[in-house]
This record gives sequence, structure tokens and C-alpha cells, in this order.
Amino acid sequence: MLTFNFDNCMAEAIGAEHGITKDEWASLMPECAKAHEAFRKWVDTEDAIFFTMPQQTAMLDAFEAKAKQVRERFTDVVVLGIGGSALGLSCLARATLAPFYNTLDRDARGGTPRLFVCDNIDPESMSALLAMLDPKTTFVNVISKSGGTTETMSQFALARSWLEAGVGDAWKEHVVATTDPETGKLRAYVKEHGLEAFEVPPKLGGRFSVLSAVGLFPAACVGIDVRAAMKGAATMARACGTAEVMDNPGYRLAATNHILASKKGKFVTVMMPYADRLSLFGDWYAQLWAESLGKEGLGQTPVKSLGATDQHSQLQLFMEGPNDKVVTFLGTQNFGAEGPSIDQPFPSFEYLKGRRLGEILHAEQQATSQALAKVKHPNITATVDRVSAETMGELFMAYEVACAYAGALMGINPFNQPGVEMGKILTKEILGA
Ligand code: PA5
Repeated sequence: MLTFNFDNCMAEAIGAEHGITKDEWASLMPECAKAHEAFRKWVDTEDAIFFTMPQQTAMLDAFEAKAKQVRERFTDVVVLGIGGSALGLSCLARATLAPFYNTLDRDARGGTPRLFVCDNIDPESMSALLAMLDPKTTFVNVISKSGGTTETMSQFALARSWLEAGVGDAWKEHVVATTDPETGKLRAYVKEHGLEAFEVPPKLGGRFSVLSAVGLFPAACVGIDVRAAMKGAATMARACGTAEVMDNPGYRLAATNHILASKKGKFVTVMMPYADRLSLFGDWYAQLWAESLGKEGLGQTPVKSLGATDQHSQLQLFMEGPNDKVVTFLGTQNFGAEGPSIDQPFPSFEYLKGRRLGEILHAEQQATSQALAKVKHPNITATVDRVSAETMGELFMAYEVACAYAGALMGINPFNQPGVEMGKILTKEILGA
């Protein structure tokens, strides 16, 4: 279960200069009503098709059937993709697989393959990965919604040659492509070579696609409970169905950020999880918020942070730097393991006696939130009861709704990314396309 606490964003807690007053909240309600209409329209036109993905559970049968074959035949799964085609899976895998998963032996991994998500084209990393793996036992899932992404298609060209050199014509049995049902060069390649493929719905953009074949098929390959992820997302989609902003977690997140940005100058949004399992949620969130909402001179700059680690790195700035941030503390009530208690603390650390690391981390999260509120810096607390596929589904859906609704409040289209096109065109020019 996922819950939010917005108290430290309100004027009662941090004063009217930096916090939201009741009047400001009330005066946003007419805009919220219009944003609700815009959001529902996007759902109807499928621009916001992410919202109805949890209803499409039939696709899970196909993912699970193929994933079973992958688990039986292969020791390693390599995912090729970038941006929205990689970040959701990385986040979900970090959240739900055992810590240090790839270093465990197969039994300790529950008989599932290792997972490598290649989301960059650094030549050293790619060469090292291919040198380390055995093509005979490696499965490759190439993911590109458009099928036209230079990075992904470069990786795939190398991986295909590597597989062919290792297993000959059988390379096709080692590959599944995930792409648009009809359009794009990857789809054309799939047709030409008779490759197996999964479809990404035509209007489902990368950063909203974790709960589709993009995130869920490779997740199923490594044994992640994809039905639980969909169940969590469905629960959150239901909660986000109401027009009542106070009762709708996604809308409330968006409206809170919108007022803090437009009226209080909070142009930086910090995502600070307090659990290693949640550490990649900041990466996923940063892309969602930046690529969807950074348009027309608007948008909050997302910053990734991790508690308690970044208390010793960024917190000084959050406390005493410009008061231009809203920090979200993302915590879990229960950790995967509570670990032993500290029975023999060192001298002067007696306050740690009998404490477990989770208790200390909870105390640090609470203290940091209180400290920020004391210096009148707004902060939100999001809490899951435990980090699981189900709560990750809730988190993904809550923030996707928040992002789309924030776009509606800002009067921008959150589903395109015109600003990245120029760089792509110039890259192709430089490479002589
Ligand atoms: O969110 C997005 O739309 C982008 O980040 C894309 O996911 C990214 O550019 C990769 O695109 P594609 O899946 O078409 O290769």
C-alpha cells in the first residue's frame, strides 16, 4: 500500500511564504476541474493509454509463457534499450530482485537468469559485457518503441553479430524485439527475419511504458511477479479515477507541485528514497518529470538523491541553499530483511544499543523531513508498507497520473519530447546519415 503525506507543503507547517495556503489551494480548484477534463480526454484518445494498461492483463499470459521458455533455456538476459525503454525495468528489477542479484548463484536467484540492462552505448561497457557472456546461453530483448533509436539499433547490430558468430542461424531463437505493432525500422526487421516480437501500443510513450511489454516481459524473464505489479497499478488507477483532488493521489501530487512551482518558486523537485531497493525510482521519476514537463520555458528540474547516503552529500544544499526545492521522501515501513540488532555499540554510541539498521534509517528520514520543515522548505512523504512488485505498480501509476495531470495544469502536452529531436538529427548528420 502506498500513502502520501503533504503536511509539510502547507502554510500551517512552513508558513505562507513557502507553503500552500488554503486560499491558494481553493483558487486552483477551477483549473483542476479543467485539468481533469483534459486528462479524461487524453485517456479517451489513448494519449494517456498508460492509465488503462492495468486492464490489459491478457497480454501477461504471452509474456509469462515466453519468459518461462527463456528461464529454462538461458542463463543471462540482456535488455537493449534507452530512456523509457530501460529505466522502468531497471527500477522494477532493483526494487524486487534480491540485493546483488547478478552475483548470486542460480539457486540463490531462484533459478532465474541474470539480468543486464544496457541503456548506454559506452564502448567499454558493451565490449566487456559481450566478452563476459556466452552467446549460447544468452537471450536478448531489444526494446525500441519507435524502432529508430540510434543507440538501441547500434547495440542490437553488435549483439546480433555476436550472437550469429556464436550460434549461427539459431541467433533468431535468442532474440525477442519489443516495438510498435506496425511502424518503424525494428518492426520491419522483425518481419523480414521472422523474429518473435511483442507490441508496444502505438500511443504509449517510452517513459509511460513500464507496465507494458517494455517493462513486464523482461521482468517476467527474471521471475518478477508481473501480475502483482499490474494489480498495484490497477489499485492506484482506481484511486486516481476521481475528480476530487484531495482524494486522488496523482492529482494531489501534481497540484501540490504545480502551486509550489508557480506560486512559491520551487523549480527543483528532489526524489529521495530511503531504501536501496527504491534507489532507482529517482532515475525513473527524473526522466518522467523532465522529459514530459520540461517545455515552453516551464518545468521543475528533477534531482535524484538517496537517503541516508546523500544526507552526507546534498543535504547541506537542500537545507541552506536556495529555497527553490520540493523534496519527496520515499520510504518503506518494512525492509526486505530487518537484520540483526546492534548489541555491542561502540563507546559514545550507546543510543544505538538494541537498534536495527532499519530503525536508524527511519529515524534519519523522519529527522531530515522535520529539519527541512523547520527551515520552511516544503517536503512530501510517500510511504509504502513494503517494497514489492505490487507497491511498485502503485508508485508507477501514481506518478504517471501526476505527471499527465501536471501537464494539463501547466497547459502543455506531456506526451511528446520535441526538444530531443534536434540532437538526434544533428547526431545523424555528424555520422553522415
Ligand atoms: O520516454 C520516451 O519517449 C523516450 O525516453 C524514449 O523511451 C527513448 O527515447 C527511447 O525511444 P525508443 O523506445 O523509441 O527507442
